[in-house]
Amino acid sequence: MNKVTVIGSINLDRTIRVKEMAKPGETIHASEVFSAGGGKGANQAVAAKRSGAKTAFIGAVGNDDAGKTMRELLGYEEIQLDGIAELDKVATGQAYIVVDEKGENSIMIHAGANGKITPEHVVEHADLIKESDFVIAQFESDLASTIKAFEVAHQAGVKTILNPAPAMRTVPEELLKTTDVIAPNETETEILTGIKVVDEESMRKAAAKLHALGIKVVLITIGSKGSFYSMDGQSGIVPAFKVKAVDTTAAGDTFIGALSTVLKPDFSNLVEAITYGNKASSLTVQRFGAQPSIPYKHELN
Ligand code: RIB
Ligand code: NA
Repeated sequence: MNKVTVIGSINLDRTIRVKEMAKPGETIHASEVFSAGGGKGANQAVAAKRSGAKTAFIGAVGNDDAGKTMRELLGYEEIQLDGIAELDKVATGQAYIVVDEKGENSIMIHAGANGKITPEHVVEHADLIKESDFVIAQFESDLASTIKAFEVAHQAGVKTILNPAPAMRTVPEELLKTTDVIAPNETETEILTGIKVVDEESMRKAAAKLHALGIKVVLITIGSKGSFYSMDGQSGIVPAFKVKAVDTTAAGDTFIGALSTVLKPDFSNLVEAITYGNKASSLTVQRFGAQPSIPYKHELN
């Protein structure tokens, strides 16, 4: 069983369901509204834990109701919470999500406490990182802390997985130098490499650019088409399972979390791990909400 440590964001998600997205200046009725656990980091941790990894988290919440709720939710999952700071005078991260009839979403986030994690806090919890098989990060929380976490991991020989989401145009070189696996979606790939992802050929070109930065494994998530991979001169697409999506929120997070649970740190079973991740995210898209939709191991076997 892998041990996975996630550094990153914890959000309380507020979702409304509509037929179609509202246009600027338009007011529309929603069919439902609900709150649920979210945040790319927390979703990835929940996916890793539910699919079988021993999981720890490094992050922060505010000293407010949302923070209490989120700590409680992650505690029920039996994710190790010692690395989650509770900060004064800052709100817990929140996401405002609109989901339309096609299951497509649009998300606005307020980073709050996620933006206040510090490199010192990471150093304080360095043991969590050093004891792990994989460390996972995204771009919804303090960047300097992520850089520090990957540096600690790299020095200890722990493998790192970067989910460069939401997209950032210039990713610091020092972060890419300590990244073993990068897992962007199509848009993020284009923003990172300047190459528009339209077919396998363009994905190979984009992957080559990322390999040139020293990254060993490139995984491009391509929604309902599945996942592209490239490593050591080998590449291909592992197709997704055909399902009807109602809410794609957390699909990418589930893929990464589930994959990290079964991936061998020498990457020798990459395709098998991608298949596992694809299977997990195909369940996530068939259910509403972020964390409530993430599947358990028994559903995956
Ligand atoms: O990836 C999905 C997540 O993005 C949501 O849970 C929301 O919190 C935003 O961070
Ligand atoms: Na979902």
